[in-house]
Amino acid sequence: MPIRIANFMGRFGWEAQKRFPMLASQSYLKAMFFLRAKSQKEYIEYFLRDPENVPYPNVVNLETINRCNSDCAFCTANKYAEKRPYMRMSDEMFRKIIDELADWGYKGHLTMYGNNEPLLDTRIVELHKYAREKLPECFIFMSTNGLLLNVDKLREIKPYINQLIINNYCEDMKFRPKTQEIIDYVQANPEEFKDLDILVQMRYVKAVLTNRAGSAPNRQNEKPKIIKETCLMPYTDMWITPDGRLGYCCCDNYEVTELANLKDCTVAEGWNSPKYRELRLKLRTGRQNDPMCAHCDFIDAGLRMHTVNEILKNDKKNKTGGKDLGSRLADTFTQKQ
Ligand SMILES: C[S@@+](CC[C@H](N)C(=O)[O-])C[C@H]1O[C@@H](n2cnc3c(N)ncnc32)[C@H](O)[C@@H]1O
Ligand code: SF4
Ligand code: SF4
Repeated sequence: MPIRIANFMGRFGWEAQKRFPMLASQSYLKAMFFLRAKSQKEYIEYFLRDPENVPYPNVVNLETINRCNSDCAFCTANKYAEKRPYMRMSDEMFRKIIDELADWGYKGHLTMYGNNEPLLDTRIVELHKYAREKLPECFIFMSTNGLLLNVDKLREIKPYINQLIINNYCEDMKFRPKTQEIIDYVQANPEEFKDLDILVQMRYVKAVLTNRAGSAPNRQNEKPKIIKETCLMPYTDMWITPDGRLGYCCCDNYEVTELANLKDCTVAEGWNSPKYRELRLKLRTGRQNDPMCAHCDFIDAGLRMHTVNEILKNDKKNKTGGKDLGSRLADTFTQKQ
């Protein structure tokens, strides 16, 4: 598969992010909330129709270490904004999670990163190898800032992942030398990477993005607004911190929420824990019903809506519904970040 290079709306989008950061961000978020509202509501009703037997998550996010080596202005994990006590997932907890996902029959998307830089975990290749062997049908993807990536590392991790996203965070719309090295090598050796989808994204390091439940460093000076749209994250994503807690979502940047603790239950039990159910019921009618969510304007970059729309389409066609539809379908889609 050839390497793909993306730059959202090209030079025009870049200049808009630089010159009118708030306007660019707010217009994008408004449009996304509007366009996705119907599908979001439909998916929530689909999800909740059998509360005892809910669908699988579509993405399991597993953070193995909670640190980053970069300085993106919009991200709480940036090395200058970091407030979390250092945590690294134990090998035992990692294997328990992967083994339980396999026993559960999970076949959806899986990441071994959260709010962090995955390549900072020195075990990252062996962790992916373990996951790949136990979960051969999962769509495993990695998103990295690429600062620690080189051709040798890419070749090491390649057999265990379906997709690699390299976010080239910069100020000048140019590839960093490490990113360029990867692009040149993959373009010169396409056969070697025919089974891996590599997506390089040009990203403005000082962009204004979502406020992530009030934690984004460059959105600290705003007056909080109540957001009444619903949110899909607790319906689509399982979010696992390095100490084995299931948190709300990627916006729990300080890792303080706990919907279940995998020290005390299995992943399947955790996914429909009483606290998860309570949060889902609150978000069914809007974010205003939960203190952490009330002012959060996060909306995902597109992957989840793509999966959710396919699940809804197939559900209508087949009328099968049921617990495993999402999981069976998720791995067959072309991913969009
Ligand atoms: C936290 S990073 C972790 C993986 C890796 N460090 C990277 O940057 O690709 C995952 C994604 O979260 C996004 N992100 C970080 N802060 C955000 C914010 N305030 N709003 C929306 N997305 C954000 C990043 O841009 C990236 O696409
Ligand atoms: S977006 Fe990724 S690279 Fe940037 S600070 Fe956050 S975790 Fe690090
Ligand atoms: S509203 Fe924000 S904090 Fe609440 S679940 Fe959704 S993304 Fe997470």
